[in-house]
Amino acid sequence: MTPIPNGAPQTLGEAFAHINALSAPSVDDLKVMVLIEAAGQTLYEASAEGSDHEEVKALLIENGHEEMKHARRVSAAIKILSGEDFPAPTADENPYLTGDFPRATLTAEGLRKTAETEFAGDKLYTTWADNMSNPEAAALLRLNAGEESDHGNRLLKAAALLEA
Ligand SMILES: [Fe+2]
Ligand SMILES: [Fe+2]
Repeated sequence: MTPIPNGAPQTLGEAFAHINALSAPSVDDLKVMVLIEAAGQTLYEASAEGSDHEEVKALLIENGHEEMKHARRVSAAIKILSGEDFPAPTADENPYLTGDFPRATLTAEGLRKTAETEFAGDKLYTTWADNMSNPEAAALLRLNAGEESDHGNRLLKAAALLEA
């Protein structure tokens, strides 16, 4: 099991609230973000299982795949900033995926709500990048930022498909 950094939240929900309140993350905060992003893939996959709509499923799985990519980019930023290895965990190794985790309700309304959190994710990463003095690490966060808005737009598309 990948360790939760010292003093960091013990559950995914609390971890989410913690990182959303930050404008300049520490290396430990970035480790929490690696765990959250890696968990994101599993959350999207679980959500995709809740639909029979092939196109909706594909959009959710694509978002999930990119969340794991985000986790890897944040790991790379940690390496640049501190020299530490903190690889993105598989679902089995992710301490935020032990026990039950929240599943998004697969309704148009639920997808639109999740889209809002994705657009907020773009703003969060952009703020972090703006406040980061290392340009290489900041560039990695900016790549994640833009893709969070892509996620939001895919979710809005999926919501429209469910209503079609
Ligand atoms: Fe992400
Ligand atoms: Fe996302």
